Amino acid sequence: MISVAIDGPAGAGKSTVARAAAKELGYIYVDTGALYRAVGLYMLQHGISVSDEDAVVKELSTLQVSLEFRGGEQHVLLCGEDVSAQIRTPEVSMAASAVSAMQPVRSFLFDLQKNMAKTNNVIMDGRDIGTVVLPEAQVKIFLTASDEERAGRRYRELLEKGQNASFEEVLNDLRARDYADSHRAAAPLKPAEDSVLVDTTGLSLENSVQKVLQVVRQKLG
Ligand code: DC
Repeated sequence: MISVAIDGPAGAGKSTVARAAAKELGYIYVDTGALYRAVGLYMLQHGISVSDEDAVVKELSTLQVSLEFRGGEQHVLLCGEDVSAQIRTPEVSMAASAVSAMQPVRSFLFDLQKNMAKTNNVIMDGRDIGTVVLPEAQVKIFLTASDEERAGRRYRELLEKGQNASFEEVLNDLRARDYADSHRAAAPLKPAEDSVLVDTTGLSLENSVQKVLQVVRQKLG
């Protein structure tokens, strides 16, 4: 099986680029952020404070997260319900970041991610795929872009979905989330030693995908 790990900060274009590259290669695209988002959403739905680790961890015995693939698209199920759309709000982003700093939450989601790569050729995106989840991945890419460019992309995405937000708000949220994701004790966001850095600042989606495919093909020979 072949695994391509794509890690990087929020809004670097990981999901869009990884989805397109997976289609091109005929691999399954696994978006691991969706798993942390599902856990975050559950806590919001049940009124559990995401700053209370004990309370969050207690819920892990009742909450169920799974993935389904339909027409090549990933759907994330929370206790059997498809929450793929509901997890894409700024509130859920912040809750996901908070719960993702908790080691028991990371352990809870580990096997699910690992098993996907055992039985499929995958492009998996996240924060710790090349460093923790799939350290044996044949290809590791650290995808990034400038803060402003990343915030601009997220901002336009939110507007397209009809959600209210200001650019400043999105930029501040993104910086806060990057800081938290990179400075936590459990599996912090950082490039794997053997990763290739791809900076998409100023690149079109098409060019970013081509750059990633180039790295994959080079690595796989
Ligand atoms: O990629 P995303 O924005 O959907 O991720 C949501 C949050 O989940 C993000 O703040 C960090 C966390 N995350 C993580 O810690 N490890 C991963 N492999 C993927 C996401």
